[in-house]
Amino acid sequence: MRVLLCRSGCEEHLVREAVDAGWSAAVRGPGAVALTGPPPVGGTTSSARPPGGWAFADTELTEPFEAAGDSVNALAAAINDWFGQSIRGDTIDQPWPCVFTAAGDAAGLARRATAVEKAFGELLRRRLGRVARLSTPARPAGRGAFKGLFVVFTAFDRALVTRTVWLGGQRRMADDDQAPSRSYLKVEEAYGLLGRAPQPGETVCDLGAAPGGWSYSAASRGARVTAVDNGPLKGGALDHPLIDHRRLDAFTFRPTSGQRFDWLFCDLVEEPHHVMRGLIEPWLAERWCRQFVIVLKFGRTDPPGLLRELREPGSALARYAPGAVVAHLHHNRDEFAVTGVLP
Ligand SMILES: C[S@@+](CC[C@H](N)C(=O)[O-])C[C@H]1O[C@@H](n2cnc3c(N)ncnc32)[C@H](O)[C@@H]1O
Repeated sequence: MRVLLCRSGCEEHLVREAVDAGWSAAVRGPGAVALTGPPPVGGTTSSARPPGGWAFADTELTEPFEAAGDSVNALAAAINDWFGQSIRGDTIDQPWPCVFTAAGDAAGLARRATAVEKAFGELLRRRLGRVARLSTPARPAGRGAFKGLFVVFTAFDRALVTRTVWLGGQRRMADDDQAPSRSYLKVEEAYGLLGRAPQPGETVCDLGAAPGGWSYSAASRGARVTAVDNGPLKGGALDHPLIDHRRLDAFTFRPTSGQRFDWLFCDLVEEPHHVMRGLIEPWLAERWCRQFVIVLKFGRTDPPGLLRELREPGSALARYAPGAVVAHLHHNRDEFAVTGVLP
């Protein structure tokens, strides 16, 4: 069995995403979905994820063991026993992630995880001091598969434990006093999906830029930004020497002949099909950018249905940016972040 974790309230969306990927899936509890049965036909046991990885899941636990205990010490001992057995024969000589978290947002569960983490750490230090010294408590950054020890509390007396996870790259980003909007955090988090951020000297076209959080993020890194919006720029984006503000319509703005931007940014509050067909598709088809970060608001669309359309073999993303990633990131509310690189 595999268990997927997501934000509370997104469980049904995730079930539908998994069913579309060919799995049998059911809600397991707050913030958790179980994938049952064999991996989908055509999938492999190592992946069987949708193209680009899960959108609604931030974590996939592979074949987790369920530790149970009615006290902190009993839980720590059960996890310690399981871990001791699971690493038998392994050589651990590199730092490894040892991450304790809680599924959903039930009150007190995160505190329970912290208390058990502490008790487990003490047991491990006594039993396997060298292995304990190499452990790091931070959730690994990035999107992909990781090895370590991952413990997720699903109830006060129960936790799922595994050594292999897939992580979606969701991260809480640090704010910047000069950033003119909270939207700044969204683009900062989305860079992690691409594994890179704008570099000094690169060019960025930011469509729907005001008040300028995304433009500020790129310009702070030394990129030159064309910020397209009829609205005013504010804060650190206002009069920034690397930001050229154009009061134009994002849907009709075009690069000059032969111009290709390194980055397309797009964060419009518009119907997502309209944004994809009227704006993103021409930008990708005409290769006016090398890579992109866009946000698609759910609006009145059905989120899993939108996801399915974005991933269809004939979609603009599949045709022009294979490998594009659609994700529901930590700083996304009712919207997807979409990133990709043009081949
Ligand atoms: C969510 S805000 C963008 C926030 C921005 N990413 C930031 O970090 O501050 C959406 C912006 O899209 C702009 N917008 C909506 N439709 C537009 C259009 N057709 N052309 C240009 N800008 C548009 C709005 O004026 C608004 O400023």
